[in-house]
Amino acid sequence: MKIENISLSSDKEDVIILDQTQLPNSTEYLTLGTVEEMYDAIFHLKVRGAPAIGIFAAYGLYCLSRKIKEKEYDKFYKKFAAYADYLESSRPTAVNLSWALGRMRRAVEKNRECSVEEIVELLGKEAEKIQKEDMDMCQRIAEYGLTLIKDGDGILTHCNAGPLATSRYGTALGPVLLGRERNMNFHVFVDETRPLLQGARLTAYELLKADVDAMLICDNMAASVMKKGWVKACFVGCDRIAANGDTANKIGTSGVAILAKYFGIPFYVLGPTSTIDMSCKSGDDIKIELRDGEEIKRKYYQKPMAPENIKCYNPAFDVTDHELITGIVTERGILRAPYSKSLTEIMK
Ligand code: MRU
Repeated sequence: MKIENISLSSDKEDVIILDQTQLPNSTEYLTLGTVEEMYDAIFHLKVRGAPAIGIFAAYGLYCLSRKIKEKEYDKFYKKFAAYADYLESSRPTAVNLSWALGRMRRAVEKNRECSVEEIVELLGKEAEKIQKEDMDMCQRIAEYGLTLIKDGDGILTHCNAGPLATSRYGTALGPVLLGRERNMNFHVFVDETRPLLQGARLTAYELLKADVDAMLICDNMAASVMKKGWVKACFVGCDRIAANGDTANKIGTSGVAILAKYFGIPFYVLGPTSTIDMSCKSGDDIKIELRDGEEIKRKYYQKPMAPENIKCYNPAFDVTDHELITGIVTERGILRAPYSKSLTEIMK
């Protein structure tokens, strides 16, 4: 299954994205050509999901580089680096953003003997490569993940880690979507209904499009469906995995993991190795994005659903303790505890 979520305009001056804030009610594409528009698209979640943010930023930086008029390397690099820094500051938690921008930076730095025109050409190739690798990564994660479940199983997923968040099957939804292509039927319980409704708006949309049996539940209903024995495994995505296996993902993920442990249900994190950040020793080192309280009070409602002057605490992510994670499914295989050992080996 493929949803066209990020592409280049034919003149390669702009990045075109599917505006995820408008789903599922309308399919609107945005054409973004300035660094401010690109920053805004990431910050306001028009493009979101860890791998998708990285791919978008790489293409964005390529388009911006094409517009830099300087022909001398140092002058070009100064403008290029300012764009990269600005895009990188748009969201802090998903490491894929700085990872992809880092690759673009290195493509410039290691080719400084080339002309600026050649460097810009190489940047286009690097951005394409990042997207192509993401497609392969999705396929491999889907294959590995599929070995963990069997036809007919009930799966619970939190938030959105499907095609919209990547460039193909997604990560957490990969096994389900690949299985569906092979005529398997899974029953997927979809949550994240607050604060951003990304399960309700995005995952539900993707699963219905792929003809998967999906059931929307509110975030506080997970225990209830687990207790009934309807959930055989939990599959979630990730925004940053620390060296000890602690994993940041959309707020609410750690609660699902705690419940899964209580009910004896395996809890799997699915994500590319680009999401592993060995420089973070544990989840305590992961910076958690705090977002505007307006998301809790009124976003997606016609009228505010809370008093205007109520104080809000709105962390976008939480960290799931490594001890709650049954396995981490990457494009290079399934990692098991102790994660400090398995992550070190895979990142060698
Ligand atoms: O704030 P978001 O929507 O960018 O957060 C999304 C998530 O937490 C996803 O589960 C994660 O990025 C994995 S996407 C394959």
